[in-house]
Amino acid sequence: LSSAPPLQLGERYFQLYPEEADPVWGNPCDDLRHQKIWSRNKTCDQLPRFLVIGPQKTGTTALYTFLSIHPTISSNLPSPDTFEEIQFFNGKNYYKGLDWYMSFFPVAKNESSRYLFEKSATYFDGELVPRRAHALLPKAKLITILLSPARRAYSWYQHTRAHGDPIANNYSFHAVITASDTAPKPLRDLRNRCLNPGKYAQHLERWLSYYLPQQLHIIDGEQLRQNPVETLHELQRFLKITPAFNYSTHLRYDPKKGFFCQVTNEERTKCLGKNKGRQYPPMEDRSYKLLQRYYLSHNTALVKLLKRLGSRTIPQWLKDDLTDTV
Ligand code: A3P
Repeated sequence: LSSAPPLQLGERYFQLYPEEADPVWGNPCDDLRHQKIWSRNKTCDQLPRFLVIGPQKTGTTALYTFLSIHPTISSNLPSPDTFEEIQFFNGKNYYKGLDWYMSFFPVAKNESSRYLFEKSATYFDGELVPRRAHALLPKAKLITILLSPARRAYSWYQHTRAHGDPIANNYSFHAVITASDTAPKPLRDLRNRCLNPGKYAQHLERWLSYYLPQQLHIIDGEQLRQNPVETLHELQRFLKITPAFNYSTHLRYDPKKGFFCQVTNEERTKCLGKNKGRQYPPMEDRSYKLLQRYYLSHNTALVKLLKRLGSRTIPQWLKDDLTDTV
């Protein structure tokens, strides 16, 4: 019996099983044997119990901030590299491993009363994310926020403009969303980043091929914006957090900001920064009409999906997006 040196053996192994070359981190706590060899200072309670998966520009920062006020909910610590989001499951951070991920979660003092969560808005449309998230956090609950994909696309465009992106600053929104497949790559990339996350049904189906429908909670982004107190109440019910925290004394509409903000005292509120709830001109009607047509099949699939999931109401923005598309 002979064997090759370890390196060659490894290479041979991954030739035979190429699908295993990309690691998928499982949960050490799912198997007693793994748990036993895990370092004593590690705990399964240092992993999130729910994920706010996005998509971007739907109000995820508002939700993250409001959840962080909750006495028994703790968010991930901010990451300095990725605009405060950890973005573990979707990019090269994944290869930094479990210890790196867990270092963003504070060790709970009172385990049973703490709900750790993480918010990374790019998770929503990441191809590999549901599989990876499920391998590590099969019991986690998922929170997504949906609003008109046309408005989401426009908000993303404004966001890139405000960040000084030369393409967004040189091309109108209409030019971006109508860019053809022969357009320069940076323009096509921007177009895709405006349009692709809004294909909601497609992305949700991917999540639902790993997670059960009961693990998913969909928030109407318009409702979050207009009535965050009720939205957060419903969310707590979904998460089975008792007693429910009453947000009505903690959030107040700020007429100057035009959004709900955190109450700091009788007169004052603390709102999100100026990069959230930006001021910009309304979308051109021709762009909205074009996007209504573009998203028609996706929005129709979303209605079907929502009905299948047992939704009793269809969001008003979805009804609006589906009317007068000809
Ligand atoms: P705009 O800046 O285009 O208006 P995200 O945090 O996912 O990037 O989403 C940003 C969007 O959240 C903002 O987009 C804004 O419309 C929305 N939003 C909802 N509630 C908000 C709040 N209370 N304060 C600020 N923005 C809020």
